Amino acid sequence: MLPHLPSHFTAVVTGASGGIGHAVVESLLNTSQMGKLIAVSRAPQTFSDSRVTPLTADVSQERGRQQLREQLDGEPVHLLFNAIGILHDHDNALEPEKRLEELDSEAFAQVMHINAATPALLIAAVKDSLQGKHPTIIASLSARVGSIGDNGFGGWYSYRASKAAHNMLLKTASIELKRLNKQSIVLCLHPGTTDTDLSKPFQARVPENKLFSPSFVAESLIGVMAKRTPDDTGSFWDWAGEPIEW
Ligand SMILES: NC(=O)c1ccc[n+]([C@@H]2O[C@H](COP(=O)([O-])OP(=O)(O)OC[C@H]3O[C@@H](n4cnc5c(N)ncnc54)[C@H](OP(=O)(O)O)[C@@H]3O)[C@@H](O)[C@H]2O)c1
Repeated sequence: MLPHLPSHFTAVVTGASGGIGHAVVESLLNTSQMGKLIAVSRAPQTFSDSRVTPLTADVSQERGRQQLREQLDGEPVHLLFNAIGILHDHDNALEPEKRLEELDSEAFAQVMHINAATPALLIAAVKDSLQGKHPTIIASLSARVGSIGDNGFGGWYSYRASKAAHNMLLKTASIELKRLNKQSIVLCLHPGTTDTDLSKPFQARVPENKLFSPSFVAESLIGVMAKRTPDDTGSFWDWAGEPIEW
């Protein structure tokens, strides 16, 4: 299923209670190649599959990242899949901006923190488990709107900027990790518009056949990861397996 990885591989999925994160956990558990899976989310979760270790932690905070580091205790991680991200937060009056006047420095900082800084800090926190000689895939969910070259519509300033920053951080980490583990593959992935809480307020304009189910997206992204080799490290792909320009 993931030919780069060994049988009974160890995976960490962050954002494991989110729409896509949860579906990725379910898809990974559908295969016998999956060994141990640490499912990280802020709210407690239960799983019937004994291969899952749920970890209740907020990895957007130092304390949460430390909890994950303690849980791993330096053991090799073969797949780190980050499904954390934010586009809107009604409770904190955070909405994607339509025009410049809507830019707000606090909201901008929050979106940058969750979408860009957190994935990089997460990789830094578990670096001991990624370096070495074992094959490892580090995949983090980006978004096509984070592509500067592909920006034809404008709007969504903070979200676009945070995903562009995410991609730069992941690309930069890929270069460092390549030196520390020749078997590492760092990937930025675009899931396509997926039926989750994140896309709910914006689904009206999406044609029905362009709104994917989380399970379809999870399977598609696993398929994209399956085709990658260490030569692909530091690259950006969509759910259909097409490369995306930075
Ligand atoms: N859905 C789409 O159409 C779409 C399109 C392009 C890209 N993406 C990207 O795909 C990723 C997953 O999105 P999704 O659609 O599955 O959204 P989702 O259902 O809202 O899940 C996002 C997850 O991010 C974590 N998160 C959100 N706000 C957080 C905060 N303030 N602090 C810490 N963690 C926080 C949560 O993880 P826990 O609650 O588990 O801790 C949450 O479950 C995101 O990076 C998103 O940008 C989605």
